Amino acid sequence: MVGQMCGKTSGYSLIFFTRLTVMRTLVTGGAGFIGSHLADALLARGDEVTLVDNFSSGRRENIESAVTNGAEVIEGDIVDKVFVEETLQAVRPQTLFHLAAQGEVRRSIEEPSFDATVNVVGTVNVIEASKNIGLDRFVFASTGGAIYGEGSRIDLPAVESAPLAPLCPYGQSKLVGEQYLELYRRMYMFNSVALRFANVYGPRQNPKGEAGAVAIFGELLLAGENPVVFGDGTQTRDFIYIDDLIDAILTASRNDVEGPVNLGTGDETSLLELLDSLRDAGNSLNGSGPPDSASFEPSFASARTGEVKRIAISPARAAEELGWNPTTPLGKGLGHTLEALRARTPG
Ligand SMILES: NC(=O)c1ccc[n+]([C@@H]2O[C@H](COP(=O)([O-])OP(=O)(O)OC[C@H]3O[C@@H](n4cnc5c(N)ncnc54)[C@H](O)[C@@H]3O)[C@@H](O)[C@H]2O)c1
Repeated sequence: MVGQMCGKTSGYSLIFFTRLTVMRTLVTGGAGFIGSHLADALLARGDEVTLVDNFSSGRRENIESAVTNGAEVIEGDIVDKVFVEETLQAVRPQTLFHLAAQGEVRRSIEEPSFDATVNVVGTVNVIEASKNIGLDRFVFASTGGAIYGEGSRIDLPAVESAPLAPLCPYGQSKLVGEQYLELYRRMYMFNSVALRFANVYGPRQNPKGEAGAVAIFGELLLAGENPVVFGDGTQTRDFIYIDDLIDAILTASRNDVEGPVNLGTGDETSLLELLDSLRDAGNSLNGSGPPDSASFEPSFASARTGEVKRIAISPARAAEELGWNPTTPLGKGLGHTLEALRARTPG
């Protein structure tokens, strides 16, 4: 019906119609690993996209394709309330994806007030400015890996109603972000969803960061170096491939589900199993494989404070509410990630 209307209208009406249907979206943390993939996907679906980032861990090379495809980039800090207010008043997005964060567990333990400043105060700034412009939909990047706390004490994979008991300030600050969204829902009927991401991996993840085991181990594998595992390597995580995650985020942004939704596979993979799968993926790389990938053997260091022994999160609510299920097997996702890492490695 809509298509027919388009066909019969004049050129002027067609432009008017197009403008009405184009969605204005804003991504905080848009130059980061996940934010830059989200930006590409939003542009591909035809949105007008603005990226806000202070480039503390984000990289300009991540957003080269987004910029080429028309994304607007605004450099600034979400901790700066005036900057956030003015930016949202000027851009007036309909949907906002809030991904900017201090994302490192270890740094959150060493500098809890910095973590709270970015992840709580910064998040409140973004929520308040969003409420002030009458935003339609707020999509929050929460954590499934750090919000439940130690998975050994609950049934795994964890469901959203499981008790929340973070073991590090990072998990706590994300929980507070979720609670602010609930508060704003009660106070202002503010519409939001809190997506609890599992351990996300894929191209563009920073191997120099602390958070991405796959990127860190993948880079070592390609360099022919052996990995150091903190703990005995039997600790488990739920690894979700970036393309699957982005599909879910896009669906959640156009859906009316509210509250927390896990985005994970529900599968526990130990770090030792991850290393085996990486070694296999390295051996299957096209062309010249990585040097000595067969001898990719870990050494062990003391387990780190604040890191849980076991976690995996159930995708059942996401399946029911979003019709989403992750489809990328670990081996395939690791293969894509290694190919991208190899393409970036000089020489
Ligand atoms: N990667 C994962 O496995 C994972 C898991 C759970 C949750 N998350 C959440 O997803 C989001 C994105 O994570 P990512 O892996 O892409 O991390 P990332 O570090 O690559 O991206 C975060 C982005 O936010 C920007 N940023 C940080 N502080 C800022 C500030 N004060 N003002 C403006 N911009 C700021 C950084 O420069 C960066 O571009 C984060 O909120 C993170 O907590 C990630």
